[in-house]
Formats: sequence, C-alpha cells, structure tokens
Amino acid sequence: MTDLSTLVKKLPKAELHVHIEGTLEPELLIKLAQKNKIDIPYKSVSEIKQAYQFRNLEAFLELYYQATNVLVDQTDFYHLTIAYFERIAQDNVRHVELFFDPQAHVSRGVHFSEVIEGILQGMEEARARFNITSKLILCFLRHLSEESAFDMLKMALPYRNYITAVGLDSAEKDHPPKNFERVFTQARLEGFLTVVHAGEEGPADYVRQAIELLKARRIDHGVRCAEDPELVKKLIELKIPLTVCPISNIKLKVFSKITDHNIRALYDSGLLVTINSDDPAFFGGYINDNFMELVDHLRFQAPEIIQLCKNSFMASFLDSGSKEEYLKLIDDTVKELMAEQPA
Ligand code: ADE
Ligand code: ZN
Repeated sequence: MTDLSTLVKKLPKAELHVHIEGTLEPELLIKLAQKNKIDIPYKSVSEIKQAYQFRNLEAFLELYYQATNVLVDQTDFYHLTIAYFERIAQDNVRHVELFFDPQAHVSRGVHFSEVIEGILQGMEEARARFNITSKLILCFLRHLSEESAFDMLKMALPYRNYITAVGLDSAEKDHPPKNFERVFTQARLEGFLTVVHAGEEGPADYVRQAIELLKARRIDHGVRCAEDPELVKKLIELKIPLTVCPISNIKLKVFSKITDHNIRALYDSGLLVTINSDDPAFFGGYINDNFMELVDHLRFQAPEIIQLCKNSFMASFLDSGSKEEYLKLIDDTVKELMAEQPA
C-alpha cells in the first residue's frame, strides 16, 4: 500500500460539516473589507492569523461574526463559495453539504436572496468545473430567539428546492436544542431534513434532545456523547452519524491536544463518524489536514482511512445510487494505488 498521505490525498471523500462563512480566508477578508469599505481591526494577513487563537467556542464566534460583516452582496458570497471549492478540489472532495448562517447576514440588512443566490452560483460552477456536487443546509443561530428562527424559515421557503436540510449552530452553552423543537417540527413539515450541532461544548443530554426532539439525521460534532454509554448505544442502533472536526476541537479547546481527542474511541465503538473541517480558514486546516492529524497522532491506518472516506458518503444526504457509485470509486482508487506500488 502507498504511503498514508498519498492515500488521504487521492481518496474521494465528502465533506459534511463546513460553514461557508468559516472558509473566508484572510486574503479575501481584507479584499472584501476594502471593496465594501468595512472597518476591520486588522491591517494585514499576518495580523489576522495571529488573532485567530481562541479560548473557546464563544471567543471564536465573536471573530467569526465580525469577519462575516465584509460579505455584503451576491458577488461576495459567490467569490467566497467558489474559492472554497477551488481549494477543496485539491483535496479530492467530491461532494459537500454546506452550512450557511443567513441570520448573521439578514440582521445586517443583506437580502436573503443575495446570500443564497451567490452561494448557489458558486455551487453550480463547482459542479461544472470540478465535478464536485453539493447540497445546502440552512443553520438557525441558537443564541437568537425561536421567533427569529421562524422568520428565517419563512424567508427560506421560496428556495426550499435548493435547501436540503436545516441545522442548528452558534454558541451551544445554555442554548439547548429543546428551545427549537417547534421550529424544527415546522421545518420537517415543510420537507427539510434536520441536523444539529450538539455535544461540542454542550453536554451529552443536548445530543439526546437533538435526536429525540429535533429528529436530527446527523449530529454535528457530538464528541461529548461518549459521556453517556446508553446514548452511544442509541446512536449506533439508529445509525446516526457524527460529523467530527478534529482540528476545530483542538483550536476551540474542546480537547487540549490532539492526542487527547476521543475520535479513536468513538470510531472503535462502532459509531458512524466522519472527518470534517468546520471553519478551515479560521482553524488553519482543510479536510485532508484533519485526516492527517489522525494519521500522524492517533495511529489511524489505511483500512481506517478508507472506511472514514466511505463513511463520509454513507452519512451524506445523497441518494442510494450515488452512494453506491462513490463507494465503488473508493474501492477502484484503492486498487489503482495498490497496482502502482512495486511488489
Ligand atoms: N458556527 C461556525 N462554526 C461553529 C462551531 N464549531 N460550532 C457552533 N457554531 C459554529
Ligand atoms: Zn460547525
């Protein structure tokens, strides 16, 4: 078998946990701030990179929402989106399920149509240029009210054919999933699937609420489910995937160092875990960098890397025919890599 970094690079994979606003690289941040005449507290790319050190999720979110202020019109959202796809084409990502946070934009007076049409334009171009398919997940901000989430849902209805699922993100502590039970019920009635950030900083009980009350099809992060063995059993039985983001968890101090991360235990327990980047421009790592953390520090070997790439498609919202095709593509890629290797 080929070396593990080549394997990670060449295997087709899906990314299921990435916030498009979290892909805003410092260079584009500065460019858009100048174009839109928005004040930012940085003068250079290196200053921005230096500022990106976070005590916890909330400290990160403050800079994240501040950065989103430079996104003003449809072309900004298009440039943001296509830049992300250009970058991940190099990582052999073949399918993406992309989060966006429209409340962070409409609250500043940006029209929802400009946000979503810019992103959709980038997604369509990525399909044509890079053969990367994608789906869109609208996240409600859990630090805002239920009423604000209902307003957002209403605004999204004309675009329902372009939005696969609704999600729940932002500051987790003291914002339990149960606060959003009614709006998630309404969203499901309107035909949306549901996913929920839970068990990142919040307790295992938030993961339970996400499944039982919000009927989440996937849990984003979910690493703290390990604190409740009965819950782990339930996640395995129901085949509910966890979209884990190792580098994010270190940057936001969910674990103090990568060797303390529980991804190995989650994987070994039989949970359907996937590897993702969350906010790569803020955390300094795209999806393959996240895979390499597992290889370099947590003894993940070739069969496990291959399985994690398969998990990424199995946990996706693709139809079963597409999933089968991608699983076969992974097997074919592995065979090719083995054939290239001298005996
Ligand atoms: N929004 C962007 N990144 C997030 C994260 N890691 N957790 C919750 N909300 C987010
Ligand atoms: Zn996230």
